[in-house]
Amino acid sequence: MKGLILSGGKGTRLRPLTYTGAKQLVPIANKPVLFYVIEDLVDAGITDLGVVVGDTAPQVQEAIGDGSRFGARVTYIHQPAPLGIAHAVKVAQPFLGDEPFVLFLGDNLVRDGIAPLVDYFRTGEMNSLIVLKEVPNPQDFGVAEIEDGRVVRLVEKPLHPKSNLAVIGIYLFDHHVFEAVERIRPSRRGELEITDTIQYLIDRGLLVNACHLEGYWTDTGKMDDMLEANRWILEQIEPRCDGTVDSASTLYGKVVLEPGAEVVNSVIRGPAIIGERTRIMNSYVGPFTSIYYDCLVVDSEIEHSIVLERSRIEAAGRIEDSLIGRNVEIGRSPAKPRAYKLVLGDHSKVGIL
Ligand code: DAU
Repeated sequence: MKGLILSGGKGTRLRPLTYTGAKQLVPIANKPVLFYVIEDLVDAGITDLGVVVGDTAPQVQEAIGDGSRFGARVTYIHQPAPLGIAHAVKVAQPFLGDEPFVLFLGDNLVRDGIAPLVDYFRTGEMNSLIVLKEVPNPQDFGVAEIEDGRVVRLVEKPLHPKSNLAVIGIYLFDHHVFEAVERIRPSRRGELEITDTIQYLIDRGLLVNACHLEGYWTDTGKMDDMLEANRWILEQIEPRCDGTVDSASTLYGKVVLEPGAEVVNSVIRGPAIIGERTRIMNSYVGPFTSIYYDCLVVDSEIEHSIVLERSRIEAAGRIEDSLIGRNVEIGRSPAKPRAYKLVLGDHSKVGIL
């Protein structure tokens, strides 16, 4: 069995972060979402992986390499334009051949892995397996309609959903999927939809099974979901100190200090993770905060937030519920007049007191 990971697409919902980076590489608890996806596949015994890439291919390739450090073998598959999830499957057909495969969207995160799903698909007589989860906002997802315990209809982001069952971004298929992706037509948003693909299989009388996911899942394509995912992952971390803490500092609860991290005259209340070579000085870092590598936090307080690499936060007061990108600088401006002085990229959001 092979794995197909989708790491192309546009990332419009995560702007401005995704102007400069792949959305699948945004870190949750200091680890790119894509790495969790690869680890889940490898843990389920799937090591022959195709990774579909688009405009952000160089970054994705640099981050994953040949896959050997995950115990996998990675083949990169270039999708010329983000024309839909089913289009990506079509482009990947030469890699997949006739083998059954797991399609895993590179921005989906599940807590308990995928091994039971893979075992169920392997042992059962089915052409496809989809995974459903009850959500409060089904209109944002592909939605499944069930009759007599069987999936009868799938609709992509319906305005008036007929159920609250979202189709999560992990699908298992046999070779019949290739006929489906050839036959379906682009949707109103101009994409070859994976929901239409599965509907085609159902309409042809092929066996599409569905199972319910009990554990945690999120599609990290949106800001709020990223903070929530960060909370979930941090709750499970094992405390570790590979950095240094001076005698004037205190760490409470589950805190991870990665190699070279430095805490000086500060308080860190876990769960929290401080990245490699990041320095926290005269500051407070509160629960559910992930600060990535080569950052500096001085004379500031930060809680329930994600900070990406090489950012500096100095004398910034208190920051909460925030997602701060790469190479960002937040600080006091010494010059008069006393005013906010901002250099913000397109689609930035700032809450001012
Ligand atoms: O998260 C689950 C949802 O994922 C499902 O409920 C929907 O049925 C499914 O269509 C999908 O919806 P999204 O709108 O969230 O898909 P998105 O465009 O964000 O793409 C998902 C991943 O696939 C993302 O990592 C980017 C990648 N992708 C996407 C497209 C359209 C590609 O690599 N190529 C593409 O052409």
